[in-house]
Amino acid sequence: MLNRATDRKLSFAVLAGVAALFLVQFFAASADEVPFIQYTDRFHPTLGQGGMVVSQEAMASRVGADILAKGGNAVDAAVATGFALAVTLPQAGNIGGGGFMLVYLAEHKKNIAIDYREIAPQQAHRDLFLNEQGEADPEKSRYSALSSGVPGTVAGLVHTQQKYGNLPLKAVMAPAIELAEQGFTVSYPLSWSIVQAEKRLNAHPASKEYFFRPDGKAWQQGDRWRQKDLANTLKRIASKGADGFYKGKTADLIVAEMERNGGLISHADLAGYAVVERTPVTGTYRGFEIVSMPPPSSGGIHIVQMLNILEGWDLQAQGHNSAGYLHRLIESMRRAYADRSKYLGDPDFNPVPVAALTDKSYANRLRAGISLEKATPSAEVLPAKNLAPESPQTTHYSVWDKDGNVVSNTYTLNFSYGNGISVTGAGFLLNNEMDDFSAKPGVPNAFGLLGDEANAIEPRKRPLSSMTPTLVFKDGVPVLATGGPGGSRIITSVLQVILNNIEFGMNIAEATAAPRIHHQWYPDTVDVEKGISPDTMKILRDMGHNATPSPWAIGRTQSITREQGMFQGITDYRWPGGSAEAAQP
Ligand code: DON
Repeated sequence: MLNRATDRKLSFAVLAGVAALFLVQFFAASADEVPFIQYTDRFHPTLGQGGMVVSQEAMASRVGADILAKGGNAVDAAVATGFALAVTLPQAGNIGGGGFMLVYLAEHKKNIAIDYREIAPQQAHRDLFLNEQGEADPEKSRYSALSSGVPGTVAGLVHTQQKYGNLPLKAVMAPAIELAEQGFTVSYPLSWSIVQAEKRLNAHPASKEYFFRPDGKAWQQGDRWRQKDLANTLKRIASKGADGFYKGKTADLIVAEMERNGGLISHADLAGYAVVERTPVTGTYRGFEIVSMPPPSSGGIHIVQMLNILEGWDLQAQGHNSAGYLHRLIESMRRAYADRSKYLGDPDFNPVPVAALTDKSYANRLRAGISLEKATPSAEVLPAKNLAPESPQTTHYSVWDKDGNVVSNTYTLNFSYGNGISVTGAGFLLNNEMDDFSAKPGVPNAFGLLGDEANAIEPRKRPLSSMTPTLVFKDGVPVLATGGPGGSRIITSVLQVILNNIEFGMNIAEATAAPRIHHQWYPDTVDVEKGISPDTMKILRDMGHNATPSPWAIGRTQSITREQGMFQGITDYRWPGGSAEAAQP
């Protein structure tokens, strides 16, 4: 127990300590060397000055940070992390899927949207997933070999690295090859997630061999897991580039797997896969510039559309996560997702009215139709009519290098472990991205999303996505990189991270941790995460919102901000095992 004298001495020491801390912070801040971090906040990001990599799996984040330290730029680090995640986070990191990467090149002040989404095989057709009664068959579109689109990940990563990276592809891929060949220690979350997909994986001999030990148990926490076939596939890519995947042995193995399981991907489909560089979707919000993914992702358009609607209200006066604020969010989400159902699809097949949907005056019209007193039932909200047509135009990680180049990348197999089918002899899983097409107008996909003609299946078409890798700029300088997985919940979780950070001034860790909500027009339900108070739920319900506790966490964002030269990174603790890794300056 402390006596009074010790107590007094301690009080003095504490006071002196506090005073010293204030002085250090004052001088540091006034010297403009470090940003003023509010250590009174409840959550804190990882800080660093030599660059930052944030992903959902710590070994892969470290791989990226080490590539930065070795002189790689943000693109090299992003590609290294992408290949590493294909080894250490097999449920979502992938070479058998596809995705979207946003790249900011500081020297040229240029943003590039890399579309490496899967494409429908040449033999796919509109009614591919309908049964004899003409009804959509989710077994086919989600779990059969027909559910796999032609993978785009390898083409996307290799294209971007060879065009915008600094290091040789081999150097960038070496860490992933080592992790696959030498193995790594399995974590509890990885073991847990294999068990969740046990039935699907066990149904296919190659998946059974890769994801389960010889005694039939899923790889357990503490086991060393080596993936020889995957290592060899990665080596073919490292030495031959994209041809190491789309041609030769890997292509033969993919086509053989298709033939065994009644899938459609052919040699011609693989050889014909092409990455597309697109112009990002842009918008503004209270003086910040928003740069995000264009179609065939719906993410960018709807982030900008919702921010445009929200910009017309004083949100701070409502208070963060108050019923008044959440009501405004929900009504904006409802209207954006209604438009998504009708207008969004692959722009190379149907023109998408990007400019009309992201126009401030259209948002003003939508806002004017929103009651501030009560919910609008979704049945009364229809997609916009007669928008002017226009000419064509799930895991996330963010990387930022010391020179100011930024990469925000989201890629996926669609479901965890895709359709569960591994390519025998090649060591990797195939996606079930074809379920993101609208199997039939009015029939929801696995994420409850509705679609129409614009997203019907056609050969070589890309299915509509919600992936939303996004960058925010202030006065032309990037200040935030974010994105995440979560199917239909991606767009709304990214929206809330952006608002929490730039509207409510939260540091990126607080902005990530704050409870989220989600509404997608149909079903007419607001999913609400733990942490929104019962009083707020009651007010929302009294306004007519079907506010329901969400059965799962909403999104898993991986974000970085940069203020006064300091990087602040945070993984989303809605999934364990991710990390923000600072590169050695
Ligand atoms: O592209 C899309 O929108 C979906 N295939 C993403 C799937 C997803 O995020 C699953 N992860 N939780």
